Amino acid sequence: MISVSFDDWPYPTHIAHRGAGKLAPENTLAAIRLGASHAYSMFEFDVKLSGDGVLLLMHDATLERTTDGCGRVAGHSFAQIAQLDAGSWHSAAYAGESVPTLAQVARWLIANRALANIEIKPCPGREAETGAAVALEALHCWREASVPPLLSSFSEPALRAARQAAPDLPRALLLAELHDDWLARCRALDCVALDASARVLNEAVIDAAHRAGLRVLTYTVNDARQARRLFGWGLDGLITDAVDAIRPA
Ligand code: G3P
Ligand code: MG
Repeated sequence: MISVSFDDWPYPTHIAHRGAGKLAPENTLAAIRLGASHAYSMFEFDVKLSGDGVLLLMHDATLERTTDGCGRVAGHSFAQIAQLDAGSWHSAAYAGESVPTLAQVARWLIANRALANIEIKPCPGREAETGAAVALEALHCWREASVPPLLSSFSEPALRAARQAAPDLPRALLLAELHDDWLARCRALDCVALDASARVLNEAVIDAAHRAGLRVLTYTVNDARQARRLFGWGLDGLITDAVDAIRPA
C-alpha cells in the first residue's frame, strides 16, 4: 500500500458524496454503482458501529430517515439492521436495498478499482471506539490494495483513535467552520488534508494549507461554476452530490 503524502497524492479531483448524492439512496451499494456509472472513481460515505460492533454505512445516528426502521443505530444489532429496507424512502426503484457493511463496500470498490473516502461518523459517545474500529477494518479490507482509503471525520477523538490504531492510513479533518486554529488541529492529528465546508473555504486558506503541506478537499459542492472557482483556487478534491451534472476530470 502506498504511503499518502502531499507529493504522493493518489486521489482524483472529484468524489461522489454518499455514493451518488441524492440520485439514489445514500450510503448504499446501489448509490455507489450509480456514481460509478457517471464515471466517478472515488466515493465518500459515512460509517458507524451497530449496537453489536459491526461497521455499516449510515449518516444518521437513528434509522428513521433512511430506512423503514426506527430508533438508534446503536440500539440495534447488525442482523436487525440488515433486515431493513434502505431504499424505499428514496424511490420505488430502490425498494429492498439494504444497509451495507464497510467490508461489503470495500470488496465492491476494490474489485471495481474505485477509491474510498471513509467518513467516520460515530454515534454519540462512541467516537474513539468507532475511529479505532474503522481504522482496523480499513487496514484489513484494503490490505492488498495499492491505494488506501482516506479516513475523514468531524470528530477529533475518532481521528485520534484511528491514528493510534493505524498510523499510516491517511487522515483528513472535516471542519464546518474555519477558526484560527484549523492548521494546528490538522497538524495535531497528522492529517494529510483539510476537508472544509465550501461555505467557509477561500483561496487564502487553500494557499496556506498547501504551504503547510496539506491537500484541501471540500464538501458539498453541487454547482458547476462554484466547482470551477474552487479548482481555480487550487482545490485538490471536490465532494459532490451532482454526479450527473459535474463530470469528473
Ligand atoms: O465528508 C463530507 C461530508 O459528507 C460531510 O457532511 O453531513 O454530508 O456527512 P455530511
Ligand atoms: Mg459524509
